[in-house]
Amino acid sequence: VFDHLEQAPEDPILGITVAYNKDPHPGKVNLGVGAYRTEEGKPLILNVVRRAEERLLADRSKNKEYLPITGLADFNKRSAMLILGSDSPAVVEKRLVTAQCLSGTGSLRVGAEFLARHYGVKLVFLPTPTWGNHFKVFMNAGLAVKTYRYYDNKTRGLDYEGMLEDIGAAPSGSVILLHACAHNPTGVDPTPQQWEGIRQAIRNRGHLPFFDSAYQGFASGSLDKDALAVRTFVADGGECFIAQSFAKNMGLYGERVGALSIVSKSSGVATRVESQLKLVIRPMYSNPPIHGASIVALVLGDGDLFSEWTVELKGMADRIISMRHKLYDALRARGTPGDWTHILKQIGMFSFTGLNKEQVQFMTREYRIYMTLDGRISMAGLSLKTVPLLADAIHAAVTG
Ligand code: LMR
Repeated sequence: VFDHLEQAPEDPILGITVAYNKDPHPGKVNLGVGAYRTEEGKPLILNVVRRAEERLLADRSKNKEYLPITGLADFNKRSAMLILGSDSPAVVEKRLVTAQCLSGTGSLRVGAEFLARHYGVKLVFLPTPTWGNHFKVFMNAGLAVKTYRYYDNKTRGLDYEGMLEDIGAAPSGSVILLHACAHNPTGVDPTPQQWEGIRQAIRNRGHLPFFDSAYQGFASGSLDKDALAVRTFVADGGECFIAQSFAKNMGLYGERVGALSIVSKSSGVATRVESQLKLVIRPMYSNPPIHGASIVALVLGDGDLFSEWTVELKGMADRIISMRHKLYDALRARGTPGDWTHILKQIGMFSFTGLNKEQVQFMTREYRIYMTLDGRISMAGLSLKTVPLLADAIHAAVTG
């Protein structure tokens, strides 16, 4: 009965890992997916995660019962406080509901489904460019998707004026998707002053901000600094959606731990939002898994584990920053034509190199460097050993 089906294309990001895994070459390097690797090129389980898991295993009072539809209450409370700050007016005034969801994607999707069902303006604006999956998440939930200007190819920085113009021209009440920090794929973020301007532009038009926070702590190494944009919006008392992921900052990729927070204008509305959110979630997957959320709740709730986490998180962020410097120096040493300072200026896991599709394909074919076709490289996948190979490949691609 499925004879008519055409072969679907691989995912533009996760498909890179599929191609990488198929390649038998011993020197291959995967800079496609945003997943942290150690200096030895290995996935990292944080020590603090191991410690939390040991405690969970030893605790005989724990069981594997179903969680509530919105997940582990302790996890929800602590996740919201992590992104909003414990003294946030939304927390203090109980104007928010948080639901544990399946990592960042699941949180975005539950939020999108909720909007499709309960929000009048079924239109979302995404930055150009953005994480490719954003389009499908919102479209499949039933929202129309448009874009606003974000990245300026010429300056390799933010097109702030263009962004404000497009936000101003969007139909009143539109959903505006914002990357909370470490914009994926560009690594270009607004300054605090620009965030304030963006907030005003969004509020003036009665738009609804929807933050995707996948890298808190990864951009600057500071959890509070990376939450600044979200906090700027929540401080004004207006509504806001926030999707949080613990994939990168706690290295819990495959555990699928995330949270959707919906900030409302009153606690009465928040209670009704929660009741409706449960109706959205129950037919999708009933309730979320217990293990990963238990790890996060423990780490966020225990002073000792929390401070160990912040040190490990900073260690990952610093290694990524040092890779930026190594790559920049290696390109300079080779005299590679072009201004590569953007590699130093961009923040977060990725560098948006400016390499085009043909150059990327050349680098994969000739140097076995796997990366997305838009020229994005995962800096977190680089090591001292692989930087020279990448620099050689970029040099050859640019001069060839
Ligand atoms: C990425 O952009 O590489 C990550 O967010 C992983 C993913 O799911 O695409």
